[in-house]
Amino acid sequence: MEAGQTAVGADHAKFREMKEGTQEDWSIISKHYMEFASDLPDRVLTHLKLLEGDFGGFPVCRMEHSLQTATRAHRDGRGERYVVMALLHDIGDTLGTYNHPEVAAAILKPFVTEQEHWICQHHGAFQGYYFFHFLGMDKDVRDTFRDSPHFDACAEFCEKYDQAAFDPDYDSESLEFFEPMLRRVFAKPLSSMYVSDD
Ligand SMILES: [Fe+2]
Ligand SMILES: [Fe+2]
Repeated sequence: MEAGQTAVGADHAKFREMKEGTQEDWSIISKHYMEFASDLPDRVLTHLKLLEGDFGGFPVCRMEHSLQTATRAHRDGRGERYVVMALLHDIGDTLGTYNHPEVAAAILKPFVTEQEHWICQHHGAFQGYYFFHFLGMDKDVRDTFRDSPHFDACAEFCEKYDQAAFDPDYDSESLEFFEPMLRRVFAKPLSSMYVSDD
């Protein structure tokens, strides 16, 4: 359906305001929601591919950086959720130009542990340890988070995988390699206000 069109017929809710909604309306919407939700991994993969060829002056493009970060985490024995977090940690670069870690963290939040989410959400500040001083900024801005139980884990992610993933000669795994992993992680949320536990 084109943007701006209205929907009529048995496969669409009939309310004009949400407060008029009926059980029948929401049965229809729920069915569509389940179908839409099952396509999430495809939408994530499509969006991740937007990073292909986007160098921004770096030695590798953002897609290679993402693959390399995930590959380094995988080869270091990290679990699937962690590796998928590593793969997607910069997926927000396209739309979250001024807050990319938060975009990735929001996408990942239902599917990863609290610590993995925290790492993703704060990796921008922690990456700054390696370059903020070249931009007239405070390289130690990560110290703001010293009291967090996740400080060391985030510092480790950046040291071992993120800041290390700009090598054009590294033999990263392909996106196809990570795709089954991503589909397994995104198959069912660990937590979501829209999905019950049973
Ligand atoms: Fe980043
Ligand atoms: Fe990164």
